[in-house]
Amino acid sequence: MTGSAAKSTAKSPKKGETATLGATGRPYRGFATPPALDSHGPARIIALCNQKGGVGKTTTTINLAAALAEYGRRVLTIDFDPQGALSAGLGIDTHDMPTIYDLLLDTKRDPQDVIVQTSVPGLDIMPANIDLSAAEVHLVNEVARETILSRVLRKVAGDYDVILIDCQPSLGLLTVNALTASHGVLIPLECEFFALRGVALLIETIDKVRDRLNPSITLDGVVATMYDPRTLHSREVLERVVDAFGDDVLETVIGRTVKFPDASVAGVPITEFAPEHPAAQAYLRLARELVARGAVA
Ligand SMILES: Nc1ncnc2c1ncn2[C@@H]1O[C@H](COP(=O)(O)OP(=O)(O)OP(=O)(O)O)[C@@H](O)[C@H]1O
Ligand SMILES: [Mg+2]
Repeated sequence: MTGSAAKSTAKSPKKGETATLGATGRPYRGFATPPALDSHGPARIIALCNQKGGVGKTTTTINLAAALAEYGRRVLTIDFDPQGALSAGLGIDTHDMPTIYDLLLDTKRDPQDVIVQTSVPGLDIMPANIDLSAAEVHLVNEVARETILSRVLRKVAGDYDVILIDCQPSLGLLTVNALTASHGVLIPLECEFFALRGVALLIETIDKVRDRLNPSITLDGVVATMYDPRTLHSREVLERVVDAFGDDVLETVIGRTVKFPDASVAGVPITEFAPEHPAAQAYLRLARELVARGAVA
């Protein structure tokens, strides 16, 4: 940690400055409400990826997806973690139903058999359950095993404006499939101890996928999550993240609040659970920022 206490308070406007600075130290911008789309698709596909566990991948997938749907985008989310947290967080009971695993095993199968509508208009999901944990073993001997998800998503991309893939906390074959299928990657980073630990390996994995499998994949941004502006620690971690990634750190920072676990238990996005809460507003702003950056239509 290089930031001194003095440096880490640099996010408030300096003497004589009128602009309010956002948490990442850049002037605060609200981002315009995205214009309605006249037509839909083909989707831009974005993987939410970080092999560190519990950093906010699933929470960001759910709430960013709901925010984009609220702006009239057609959104498909992919639960690509055998824990099925995305499915549960969107209120889907995956017991005894076809899942993404079935599509990976049989790429001739119609993806519509697996897609489920959520309670949020415009937001669909391909759910997963623990069956997906067998996928890596099953797929390891397949021809073109890294491109299986890509082939599945190609069939449905025309129906959506954006597809968000919630990756599991590993850099194994499933995550490589997600990166191979994606146009962009979003990296959620928790503003906590060791936030940057392992990120070099993640970037190396993305670089390898770009070299060997998916030349056009881009880093769409780093999303700082669970930020608590009251703690020096949180501010210092964010400062280090900005030092490491510069303008790739999205200006929208997600604060730490118990509303997220509460919303997950209720099985709905925070934009439905507590629409006026600052955390819901933060995900709406994140959606607007990604549209403004061109990462989403
Ligand atoms: N901004 C936040 N404030 C407080 N709690 C949060 C926030 N974001 C996520 N959480 C909580 O932290 C836990 C981990 O979040 P989440 O499941 O989104 O992370 P993840 O990266 O998907 O985890 P995993 O690697 O296990 O898939 C969950 O209990 C979630 O409700
Ligand atoms: Mg998760």
